[in-house]
Amino acid sequence: GEAEAAPGSRLKFKPIEPSQADRIIVPEGYEHTVLAKWGDPIFEGAPEFQVGAQTAEKQRQQFGYNCDFVGFFPLNDERRALLCVNHEYTSGPEMFRDYVPGEKKREADVEIAAHGGSVIEIKKTEGVWELVKSDRYNRRITGDTPMRITGPAAGHRLMKTSADPEGVNVLGMLNNCSGGKTPWGTWLTCEENFNQYFANNEQAEDEEVKEVHFRYGVTAGATGRLWEKFYDRFDVTKEPNEAFRFGWVVEIDPYDPNFTPRKRTALGRAKHEAATCVLAPDNRVVVYTGDDQQFDYVYKFVSRGRYNPGRRQDNFDLLDNGTLYVAKFEDDNTGRWIELSMKNPTLAKLFKNDGEILVKTRLAADAVGATAMDRPEDCQPNPVGGKVYLTMTNNSARTTLREDEGEIAANPRVPNFGGHIIELTEKGGDHASETFEWEIFLLCGNPEIDLKTKKSELEPGLASGATFFAGYADASKLGKVASPDNIAFDSQGNLWIATDGQPSNTDIGNPNDALHVVPTDGPDRGYLRQFLSGPKGSEVCGPEFSGDETTVFAAIQHPGEGGGFPNTISRWPDNAPYARPAVIAVRHRNGRKIGR
Ligand code: FEO
Ligand code: CA
Ligand code: CA
Ligand code: CA
Repeated sequence: GEAEAAPGSRLKFKPIEPSQADRIIVPEGYEHTVLAKWGDPIFEGAPEFQVGAQTAEKQRQQFGYNCDFVGFFPLNDERRALLCVNHEYTSGPEMFRDYVPGEKKREADVEIAAHGGSVIEIKKTEGVWELVKSDRYNRRITGDTPMRITGPAAGHRLMKTSADPEGVNVLGMLNNCSGGKTPWGTWLTCEENFNQYFANNEQAEDEEVKEVHFRYGVTAGATGRLWEKFYDRFDVTKEPNEAFRFGWVVEIDPYDPNFTPRKRTALGRAKHEAATCVLAPDNRVVVYTGDDQQFDYVYKFVSRGRYNPGRRQDNFDLLDNGTLYVAKFEDDNTGRWIELSMKNPTLAKLFKNDGEILVKTRLAADAVGATAMDRPEDCQPNPVGGKVYLTMTNNSARTTLREDEGEIAANPRVPNFGGHIIELTEKGGDHASETFEWEIFLLCGNPEIDLKTKKSELEPGLASGATFFAGYADASKLGKVASPDNIAFDSQGNLWIATDGQPSNTDIGNPNDALHVVPTDGPDRGYLRQFLSGPKGSEVCGPEFSGDETTVFAAIQHPGEGGGFPNTISRWPDNAPYARPAVIAVRHRNGRKIGR
């Protein structure tokens, strides 16, 4: 079953085919277990999941809904670890029988409690990880957990509400999508589409408030979930500033269940995807983050202080002071990071202080001419060589070359249904550098449709079907991939790509979402293979390796979405009339490192 591997290839598994089955498919020799699913009790004595009888009180003791980011945090005993998992959003029609938004406060409260994140202890027995129901580390963070607002925007006038006249305390985090891990062992979790929870922006009295909220897509009229019927803070006409307190990167110490989560405003306010940390040569901390919206931007934060490996507690405020930049990708494959602060003369004319720039990050980036991208999702530095990989998940709205609107080569397809991945090389290999070079690594899609695209032909205006697999020439061996979203590297520099939206990409024949892997160097650079297929209606998130790389964790988000209750699309994983989002663990039966 290893015949597919090229001579000298470091990846030795037989790729799987795209599938529409309502189950997890992994290569020969591999197996998966369901580690934690929506409603699983995570504390000793916590109530069991009982469909139709969920309450917020129960849900606060149980694993949340729609898992996305997965972070592996080691404990001293190598058979134990912590997983930090985001719970991005809820989907009432699949969670409750006869769901009508805004009808039952009980259901809205379950939804709020099913948002946020979980810290769970896991234990490995004979190679298989399982959830430990424990009170030592386990924790639920929800849509109303008390949090601190820190950094330059803390206390800004736009951060003040009637419940919090100081502008420094907020309840909850919402729509947490991807994230990251800091070198000092904390979890960064990113608020993404927070706009959908706040209603009636068209009626906002203050023009400034209304304009900024609309730039972030805050809802005109009612929200989909109608939480505003039960809680004034979700109604812009009643609490105009509450939405400014969302859209941040949140830092949480998973080793301290009493830690108050911090919204780190220095990293800017956006529909954040990942917040990926890496150290500059001088030990300043660099965080890359995408803003997942059509024609929005890629950001980077560089701390003022330096990481101190010797004293963990010295590092906890590093993300409160530093410089935020936005990326400009020039058409000649160079690029630069443009500072977003009062030190930038363009912004000094438009904004009163750094706090305002951060609350209005997108408007500041608009003003300095940042490059409009095709929905920037995850970003990951390669542990081998240090190049940074940026996923642009897709952009069906890029229908013209927009040459009048600036540089275009970094998003070359019109439209971009399949998404692409950019490889960014910081000048001198220094992640704190203000200039870089970039190239297209993958133009995702079906390689059988068009593999004629050469590196020299990666010009703006390519058709949606054009694909490019880093120059890999043999289309017959390549997997089909679209809408790259979350990515991770193994220690050999192979890029693992989870997808979100393959089913909507007709070019690749409507298979389920998947996990793929592609080498980034050597003779197999660009040789993309499929490793996992998800259940129906789900997207595959995470992915994350255990420290020894013998397990890859993946979050199976929204299985059966759109299928209602009972679910007509997916019965995964319980073969029940409902589906349950869950984190899975995949391993080789012989305990090999994943893919090798
Ligand atoms: Fe929640 Fe941008 O994916
Ligand atoms: Ca994502
Ligand atoms: Ca996505
Ligand atoms: Ca996603």
